[in-house]
Amino acid sequence: MINERDSVLHTWCVPAQWQAPTIVGGRGAHFWDADGNDYLDMSSLSECSNLGHQHPTVVKAIREQAERLCFVTSSWGTKPRAELAQALLEKAGFKNGRVFFTLAGADANEHAVKFARQARRLPQGWIITRDRSYYGASYACMAFSGDTRTRHQVDPEQYAVRHVASPYAYRCPFGSSSDSECGERAVAAVAAEIDRTGAKSIAAVLMEPNAGTNGIVPPDNYWPGLREVTRSHGVFLIADEVMSAFGRCGEWFAWQRFGDAGKPDLMTLAKGLTGAHVPLGAVLVSEEIARQLEKQMLFTGLTYFGHPLACAAGLAAIRAYEDEKLIERSRRLGGEMFAELKRLQQKHRVIGDVRGGHGLFAIVELVSDPISRTPLAPWPETPPQLTALVKKARSLGVSFAVRGNLLILAPPLVIEESELSDALGLLDRLLDEMESA
Ligand SMILES: Cc1ncc(COP(=O)(O)O)c(C=O)c1O
Repeated sequence: MINERDSVLHTWCVPAQWQAPTIVGGRGAHFWDADGNDYLDMSSLSECSNLGHQHPTVVKAIREQAERLCFVTSSWGTKPRAELAQALLEKAGFKNGRVFFTLAGADANEHAVKFARQARRLPQGWIITRDRSYYGASYACMAFSGDTRTRHQVDPEQYAVRHVASPYAYRCPFGSSSDSECGERAVAAVAAEIDRTGAKSIAAVLMEPNAGTNGIVPPDNYWPGLREVTRSHGVFLIADEVMSAFGRCGEWFAWQRFGDAGKPDLMTLAKGLTGAHVPLGAVLVSEEIARQLEKQMLFTGLTYFGHPLACAAGLAAIRAYEDEKLIERSRRLGGEMFAELKRLQQKHRVIGDVRGGHGLFAIVELVSDPISRTPLAPWPETPPQLTALVKKARSLGVSFAVRGNLLILAPPLVIEESELSDALGLLDRLLDEMESA
């Protein structure tokens, strides 16, 4: 069989070392390869297949839209684009707001920044983000991201970006003794950076409210605290909800856990927006920003803006989340998964921290010693023991995701309870093996 290794440059790897089976099908929380091996997906691939694989409602909507009309540009209107924009504004409670469509998360974040700067009439306005964050792999997004791996490729100051320390309570950069103290100090650090830079020259603070690629789940007081500080300083708050939305953190959008006290001025979406059936991203802007942008020339565009196939998929995805009560399901199963992982933490010394659990998203951080909290490998390296664990799990039919010394558990929201408990049982056994080795 033809192997893409001979022709494709793969992402986030040394391409010559890339080695993976060829996936030929999927259904629900499973996908399978050309040799007939079946895998239970414990990470929704890149934390994006929230609806599982080949969700019938979404597949049907794509098929029907393909037969009706595949493509129109932004110069023309189309029904699925209008309907999806309306549905998103309603779900977010962004009354009289507006939606801009993109192709993925990175260009959604770039456009959110562009719009914040344009609405504030600060074309070079400063953006404040944080360490240990990830906003995408385009140049501007590498500058936004607090990601040490790409720092040599881009200078954040040249993109008018400043980083503050992160609300990483397990290893609090402020030396705090509790989660809430760490959250409080992380918010204070943002306030101090706003004061240092000068609120009048800042366009926005850009942060992930909950789940994100680099494995931080902020303490509960962090997001409402950020909202309060940005509001009192007259600075826009952009919520990167690319990973955290559509049930992943137990709500449509993770900030909704805090009600209006967490409502951002702009929000970026991708991944779960179509459950990854078709690429699509979006930026939602508040009424205040919409009023500013509506009367200015927008020097921006994407050929595939609001692609009808993607918008039809997005609409069908929203219907599926609603009809199957998947947001509530994720909250309930996420709580159960978190409780089980906490139980495993009591049993396995190698588990230093378990965080998340607001929905079907949890981070398990591995250490060589839970007392000193020594990481199993220095960030962002992946310890060989963890690579071996994931390889063994895969050979036994369960696919786990890893970043550095973190295991990321983010199964599709449609996963069966028995499948979830089998996967956690396997993890328990593999951790036993790792510890006895
Ligand atoms: C929080 C967050 N923001 C942005 C992105 C970038 O999204 P994309 O890969 O679709 O460009 C990601 C991707 O993992 C993400 O997790």
